[in-house]
Amino acid sequence: MRGKSVLLIIGGGIAAYKSLELIRRLAERGVKTRAILTRAGEEFVTPLSVAALTGEKVFQDLFSLTDEAEMGHIQLSRSADLVVVAPATADLMAKMANGLANDLASTTLLATHKKVLMAPAMNVRMWQAASTQRNFETLKRDGVLFVGPEDGEMACGEFGPGRMAEPLEIVAAIERALALPGPLSGIRALVTAGPTQEPLDPVRFLANRSSGKQGYAIAEALARAGAETLLISGPVDIAPPSGVKLMRVTTAREMLAACEAALPADVAVMTAAVADWRPDIAANSKIKKNTDRVVPLIKLVENPDILATLGAHPRRPRLLIGFAAETENVVQNAVAKRKAKGADWIVANDVSGDVMGGDRNRVHIVSAKNGKDEPAEDWPDMTKTEVGARLAARIAQYLGHAA
Ligand code: C5P
Repeated sequence: MRGKSVLLIIGGGIAAYKSLELIRRLAERGVKTRAILTRAGEEFVTPLSVAALTGEKVFQDLFSLTDEAEMGHIQLSRSADLVVVAPATADLMAKMANGLANDLASTTLLATHKKVLMAPAMNVRMWQAASTQRNFETLKRDGVLFVGPEDGEMACGEFGPGRMAEPLEIVAAIERALALPGPLSGIRALVTAGPTQEPLDPVRFLANRSSGKQGYAIAEALARAGAETLLISGPVDIAPPSGVKLMRVTTAREMLAACEAALPADVAVMTAAVADWRPDIAANSKIKKNTDRVVPLIKLVENPDILATLGAHPRRPRLLIGFAAETENVVQNAVAKRKAKGADWIVANDVSGDVMGGDRNRVHIVSAKNGKDEPAEDWPDMTKTEVGARLAARIAQYLGHAA
């Protein structure tokens, strides 16, 4: 990020106050911001506060002679590495989608040949209006990037999509837009996710309720942070995360073979709910209902433990992280599991509620330092996406790759 520059167009919306924080967050990362404040934007934040934070004059007028002498709109649109519109109002989106150019912001957007990232912010009904949705589609087709809007309560008291993305999310989108190396670039990551299916015959199998959501969120967060990420997934019903290499497997033994073939890796995060047992034989043809009413007995044999195998592997990942889904004594069991499987960390969660298949998670991180157990870290209840992002940041810190 350091040394890059952003041209920030601040439109007229209550979310404009968040743009002031965005400027600060960018400055902390060594990014220089120049700002255009629209006439409507000026109703929400003052040119003085924007100038104080950017450390530069604020550009406001298309026909200002001094501005044109110092920097015309063409040059303004070209001098930055990226143009960011936040808040992007319905009006700014409409203007850009239709090529209107009747003020400094819209003229700059028409003249730029740099990537444009928009963070829409408006009332839910304005966002859902057919014309805004049409403009949104047009802009996406034209290559404009978007971050948000998010669902939530808005300043106007209504609830729904239309809230501007939070400044740190916009910063992350800016990083992606500039394709900057993330804190994990150069790192090879392996993630397992989902359940495994252990066949009884061609139509029946043993499985579990794992949705794969947490593992997919972690893989996506690692990739976003720049890691070269391989996700080895059991059968799940969710879309492949972006930027991740996905390999699908069915059984525990296939998953183990895929993991071993993927080594060496710097970090492995084993979130898969691997079946502990499998039927000792998988019949080649469908097992028939017994005519003499004898129920067939299924004999189970133990599956390999993938985490433990990697824990004792000659090419063991530098950082090996296991998961522990527990219904009681969550932390205690996780501490024992960490040692038994030779993992560095265990991410433990209580699955007695609706964690499996849900979108939220409350986890505890169990680790050790110089062979001694560290006190468990209790993370608050958050979305699985947030758990992924926080875990990726902690991994980067551990591997000495923090931003
Ligand atoms: O023993 P338990 O199944 O609770 O351990 C959970 C951790 O071990 C998870 O990280 C899971 O991915 C991993 N595991 C495995 N192979 C197994 C069973 C569990 O890798 N056969």
